[in-house]
Amino acid sequence: MTNLEKKYLRIIEQLQSLFAQTNNPQSRMASVCALLHHKIDHYFWTGYYLLDDNNDLLVSTYQGPIACLKLQKDKGVCWASINRKKSMFVPDVELFPGHIACNSLSKSEIVIPVYRNDEIVGVLDIDSNKKDAFKEYEIKYLEQINILIYS
Ligand code: SME
Repeated sequence: MTNLEKKYLRIIEQLQSLFAQTNNPQSRMASVCALLHHKIDHYFWTGYYLLDDNNDLLVSTYQGPIACLKLQKDKGVCWASINRKKSMFVPDVELFPGHIACNSLSKSEIVIPVYRNDEIVGVLDIDSNKKDAFKEYEIKYLEQINILIYS
């Protein structure tokens, strides 16, 4: 197991313990962003985009530079994750057709859906300012983290 995998396991344990304080999803998502963003070096932007009642995908809690408030429907990596109902692994954002650049420094990206029961309510979006910054196995840990939000 790599040091990064061990770090994710420690973060998951810490989140489980923190989440005993409340089941409020906003408080939990805010804590996920703060913890991940400050513990994992290759993260540049860490945040949630959530669907509202009009099916708009709007920025919610995040850490990092200012980002787009609303993502154009069916465009970019976050909408692809929602529409395909799967996590997205994008080692080079320039090679992803329709990628939405909220910040020109973002070079690689991971997007993980958030489910409430069986319904997707939004995504966790993580950007790095370096190409190829993420390992594909990070998806597995981030999916475990998202499951905790509504558990
Ligand atoms: N790149 C995302 C938009 C959100 S920003 O990365 C914060 C996308 O293509 O959906």
